[in-house]
Amino acid sequence: MPDTVTAVPALHRAVLTAALRAPSAHNAQPWRIRVREDGAYELHYDHHDYLPADPDDRDAYLCMGAFLETLAIAASREHLRAEITPVFGRDGADLHVADARLVEAGDEVDPLALRLVERATNRSTYTDEPLPTGLVDALTGLGCMLTPTEQVARIVRRAAVLSWRDRRFVSDLDTWVRDESSPDGMTRGQLGLAGYEWLALRAAFRLGRLPAPLATVFSGRDIRLLGVAPAVAVLMADSDRPEDLVAAGRRLLRAWVTICANGFGYHPISIAIDRPETRPAIAALTGAKAGATPVALFRIGRPTGPAGRSNRISLASALIP
Ligand SMILES: Cc1cc2nc3c(=O)[nH]c(=O)nc-3n(C[C@H](O)[C@H](O)[C@H](O)COP(=O)(O)O)c2cc1C
Repeated sequence: MPDTVTAVPALHRAVLTAALRAPSAHNAQPWRIRVREDGAYELHYDHHDYLPADPDDRDAYLCMGAFLETLAIAASREHLRAEITPVFGRDGADLHVADARLVEAGDEVDPLALRLVERATNRSTYTDEPLPTGLVDALTGLGCMLTPTEQVARIVRRAAVLSWRDRRFVSDLDTWVRDESSPDGMTRGQLGLAGYEWLALRAAFRLGRLPAPLATVFSGRDIRLLGVAPAVAVLMADSDRPEDLVAAGRRLLRAWVTICANGFGYHPISIAIDRPETRPAIAALTGAKAGATPVALFRIGRPTGPAGRSNRISLASALIP
């Protein structure tokens, strides 16, 4: 075990390793951790590779929020409390997002602590079983708005066609689709693509962007999946400011763990949020109050198949020497 890892107390090592299972866009896992001499952990986002995919850093701050919440829940499982102090310092390509200190806590454990490991993105089809009322209430309490599936599907179709015709979108995907042994990025097994879908994706990568008719064909998959989902949720943030995005990322993580703990699955379909042409239409659909902004969109339902397993970087790779 490298010295950087052995320098971390064993209990903290378990918490940090569990936090590394947090979800991130493209499974880029852009978080890096510096162990300070006073025992606190600095959380950094290094956007050197990641920037082209996320010019406004919106996904980055959301992912950092998801990481912090995963850390807090994992700490609670070990009867520790994560005291998190926001920093939001920028130094070149480095964003110092927050500091976390793991301190002794009482016996009270986060109700999601034992369910954390069940969270995974599930891209299979879902049955039409409606969501139980308790789950709907929990999601609403976390700031998710359930929206009419057919209307969302129409907007997603437009976003998908625009995306597949866009060189940057295709090249981002090309960058982050990796072979099965890669510790980061998305693999074919994880994405659950059929052979012909995989070949089509490789063809898109070769072409760089798709002509309109092919882009329409490519968009079909997300639309089909959305069309049969019993629910689509949009997570709202108070604004696009870093602190609001990190807070939204924390709620997003709780929403996703809660869905999985109820035996349901979720699948983010971010294109309609990521594209400036369609984001206002999603905002209008939610009827959100002025200033509030949609930051994540995902379908929810009872999955017909297991979630694909995603890879992770090791703690040694996440620690800044
Ligand atoms: C902000 C954010 C946006 C995401 N957008 C998408 C998406 O558009 N499509 C998709 O299939 N997965 C999306 N994901 C899921 C990630 O690909 C997934 O979290 C990552 O590959 C790790 O897999 P896991 O969630 O199963 O642990 C998104 C995740 C986050 C945090």
